[in-house]
Amino acid sequence: MRAILSDIHGNLEALTAVLADIRTRGVDAVHNLGDTLGYGPNPVECLDLARRMDLVLLGNFDQAVLLDPDGFCVSAEKSIFWARDQLRRATGPDREERLAFLGRLPRRHAEGDTLFVHGSARNPLNEYLFPEDIYNERKMARIGEAFGRLCFAGHTHVPGVFAERGPGRWEYIHAEECEQGLPVEGRRLICNVGAVGQPRDDDERAGYVLFDGDRLWFRRVPYDIEATVRKVYAVPELDNFLGDRLREGR
Ligand SMILES: [Fe+2]
Repeated sequence: MRAILSDIHGNLEALTAVLADIRTRGVDAVHNLGDTLGYGPNPVECLDLARRMDLVLLGNFDQAVLLDPDGFCVSAEKSIFWARDQLRRATGPDREERLAFLGRLPRRHAEGDTLFVHGSARNPLNEYLFPEDIYNERKMARIGEAFGRLCFAGHTHVPGVFAERGPGRWEYIHAEECEQGLPVEGRRLICNVGAVGQPRDDDERAGYVLFDGDRLWFRRVPYDIEATVRKVYAVPELDNFLGDRLREGR
């Protein structure tokens, strides 16, 4: 069994709760689809936990922490500069290795006909694929051409599955419809695993996916949101809104 997660966004309480849940599920590999950093109050601690995972991809926020943020809203950009500062100011023997680890992260990972990305198969770092995009046949066709049978992604913070019905024709399956486990055989799928650290589907619990090679399951895990909110409030560079939104999952 594999656990596939994304968008931790510096939320240590959410990540700790998800990792505890993962430990009860017979998981032998943890894959992280990126955006370990940005928004949240514990970038250093979350990156250290990510370094122990079996696969970690670069997300657009991770890249922005390394390079120059471009195209982010003011509150996101402030959180990116603050996270960069935290990584640079950290003391101890891991400081250099942490930064080197970040600089080595790949944008995509392929295993046979399965692709892992942060954004989309076509644009692994930055492209959003939202549920309503099923009505954009051109976009779906282009993205569909960019992977084999199965693609795992994050980035939107909205968990769910896109299933191909024909060229450019895809249907959207909400995560809640997959309670019994969604079989992956017989059609091409794009699975958005949702977000650990900042869910945006009106469910405040941390989200991730379990995958045994045949079926996938969406997991939701409650965590101590108020502890994270208090930390956000205590950092002047993090807008209070970044804490408030966690309570509502938006
Ligand atoms: Fe994200």
